[in-house]
Amino acid sequence: MQLLSEYRNDFLTLPNRIVMSPMTRLRSHPDGSPTADVADYYAQRASAGLIVTEGIWPHSTGQSEAWVPGLQTGRHVDAWRRVTEAVHAAGGRIIAQLMHGGRKGHPLARVDGSWPAGPSSVVDDDRPHLLDGTKADPITPGAFDRAEIGALIGHYASAAANAIAAGFDGVEIHGANSYLPHQFLADNTNLRTDEFGGSIENRMRVPLAITDAVVAAVGSRRTGIRLSPGNPQFNMREADPAPLYRALVTELDRRDLAYLHLTDNDDYPAIADLRQRWHGTLIANIGENREPTNAVDAEAVLRDGRADLVSFGRAFISNPDLVERITHDLPLAPIREELLYGRDAAGYSDYPRWEPSSARRAG
Ligand SMILES: Cc1cc2nc3c(=O)[nH]c(=O)nc-3n(C[C@H](O)[C@H](O)[C@H](O)COP(=O)(O)O)c2cc1C
Repeated sequence: MQLLSEYRNDFLTLPNRIVMSPMTRLRSHPDGSPTADVADYYAQRASAGLIVTEGIWPHSTGQSEAWVPGLQTGRHVDAWRRVTEAVHAAGGRIIAQLMHGGRKGHPLARVDGSWPAGPSSVVDDDRPHLLDGTKADPITPGAFDRAEIGALIGHYASAAANAIAAGFDGVEIHGANSYLPHQFLADNTNLRTDEFGGSIENRMRVPLAITDAVVAAVGSRRTGIRLSPGNPQFNMREADPAPLYRALVTELDRRDLAYLHLTDNDDYPAIADLRQRWHGTLIANIGENREPTNAVDAEAVLRDGRADLVSFGRAFISNPDLVERITHDLPLAPIREELLYGRDAAGYSDYPRWEPSSARRAG
């Protein structure tokens, strides 16, 4: 299987082409420091070719929900160092996903109690988890002024530097699935009339400035980016994604990044369309808004050359030994959905390695 073959570029040497996709699980302390369970959880999954962590806020003003981790303070760095050391000791590689909520968030979900802001004052339809354990109706966000845009770009750079100080092998800018860079790209969340809105060139400006700031902080070969062209999740609308993402990927391609991580779409086949514009490493995610990614479909993506690596999300939640299960065609365990966003190890770091009592076949 090509999925199980080694992959190398100038930056990465991976024992297989199975990437653990970023997944928010809300297991951090209220201050955003990952718990000991987080270290266990990722170390258990270290046989993945590459792990991309759950989204991590670069700064408290970008916190989207309670119990999402951060990479802003010395405490965060120390706590993440325990995670990266556990993964490295188990033989793995781990990238930090930098996730700024932009318009997402709520003062009662945030360590600093700040009000969320996005490119424009357009309300989200996602109900954030609050620190008191309830979920809130979305609130109307503010709109960034120029100074705030300058500040948030700086926050990405300092969080990226913190990630490297914490021992991560690199960072991934979360530009997908309705988070901040996506909010600048999409039609319905960016209504600005200044140099950050309107034309394709203007809408790409902040995502590219974030990328350049992260590259300046940690180097292009330690910087990846995730995009989800045309993804309608969380009420995002992109009427005509092809020209925008073709232009964006062409620009990103000049920056010699570690990788591009792309989700696919039923209306716009982004991976097939953008592959020809991207000369570096491409990670495909083929499960977003679809059935969980399986090994047969992932292998087909590699065989026909659509990507170099494939990311698996949900399959990793309940199968810490997913790589071994795919290798030996062993059954996959189901997810305990009610514990996806639990507070402790239950339904998180207590999924066992393969046991003959599980039901479904891998693939
Ligand atoms: C519980 C959960 C949390 C997620 N959190 C994130 C996240 O923090 N960042 C991100 O880029 N994608 C996130 N995703 C999307 C996944 O990375 C992945 O793209 C999606 O699950 C589709 O892949 P799959 O079919 O292999 O599960 C999340 C998905 C799930 C199920």
